[in-house]
Amino acid sequence: MNIFKKIITVSCVAFMLSSCGNSKKESTTSEVDPVLQANTEKISQTINTIKVRDSFPRTILKEDTQWELVGVRDWCSGFWPGILWYAYEFSGDENIKQAAVEFTDPIKTVAYSKALDHDIGFQVYCSFGNGYRLTGNEAYKKVMLAAADTLATLYNPKVGTIHSWPMKPEYPHNTIIDNMMNLELLFWAAKNGGDKRLYDIAERHAEVTMKYLVRPDYSTYHLGSFDDETGEFLRGVAHQGYADDSMWARGQTWGIYGFAFSYRETGRKDFLETSIKLANKYLERLPEDGVPFWDFDDPKIPNAPKDASAAAVAACGMLELSTLVEDKQLQKKYFNEAKRFITTLSSDAYLSNATNEALLLHSTGHHPRNSEVDASIIYADYYYMEALLRLKKLNEIRKPEGLNPKN
Ligand code: GLY
Repeated sequence: MNIFKKIITVSCVAFMLSSCGNSKKESTTSEVDPVLQANTEKISQTINTIKVRDSFPRTILKEDTQWELVGVRDWCSGFWPGILWYAYEFSGDENIKQAAVEFTDPIKTVAYSKALDHDIGFQVYCSFGNGYRLTGNEAYKKVMLAAADTLATLYNPKVGTIHSWPMKPEYPHNTIIDNMMNLELLFWAAKNGGDKRLYDIAERHAEVTMKYLVRPDYSTYHLGSFDDETGEFLRGVAHQGYADDSMWARGQTWGIYGFAFSYRETGRKDFLETSIKLANKYLERLPEDGVPFWDFDDPKIPNAPKDASAAAVAACGMLELSTLVEDKQLQKKYFNEAKRFITTLSSDAYLSNATNEALLLHSTGHHPRNSEVDASIIYADYYYMEALLRLKKLNEIRKPEGLNPKN
């Protein structure tokens, strides 16, 4: 399909997604399929532009059109293979699968090297995790189990959390809200032949994060600094946010998603309640189009950059939440909000279309450092693909009186 036809197709799909409540007979599956199809075609084209399989797309700044590549130890290395696995899951295309295998393999080194930081979870779970889920390849499982053990070496039992960023000596023991996402690897490993202690570490980490990084008003600190000897909480810090007490958008969404699956894995109602409260706080403060500014408290709003990556993570987290809450109204609320975010991301306001190689525009990485501001960033594309696939699957299984957003 030429690029102009594709743009028209995707724009039509954005319209279909936003107006789907009006059509009685539409197939819920086909709402999402054309977007996934167009995304998959774009992803296929990008595979051919990256010649070296141990270089991974990370960013496209506004003045560029092609991905800047990073090495395997970069925290973002796992997202591109993860995107390939999602595109393969949707299309069944063997060429995409082959590329997914080739880009996944080099990440193995992360699992068997000294742990640099908590990002092992992002690197390995997005690549090998999706690969294992889709292929059942036992060699992938081995790498994931090794990665979980490596991640667990960063656990400090005095604090009760993983030391997220050992390379930052200014905080002797720090734990960031993003780290919630990487508990999924530990929960998975404990259930799949790994040490049962990995479950305890993940549960305790979530508990301590809930106690200190979640503020009384249900916004979140980006980083908690702890005394590594006594375990005492010292202070909450903004780091990637605007100010220590501000609400950094992506951090809030890591929390929504992380506490939702921590409930799924442990059954602990306080984790579910935390995810709900974080989600409600986020929804309360969202701008009209459903995509947050990079930090909810930037005084430059509305003249501040947006963060499409946060909207994509929020969509995944709220789709997860919609399957966990028992109350039908709440199921619908989180499902419909997630669908709204996906619809907006699938519109010309956020889709990159022919602008560059990425799927989405307008994400913000590290605003205080003026790094990756209003850019295309690989994790936005990863969680966008995940959200589309999650929506597709939920559309296929939803019951008339249950998750159906038309009720
Ligand atoms: N440190 C991960 C993020 O930027 O969200």
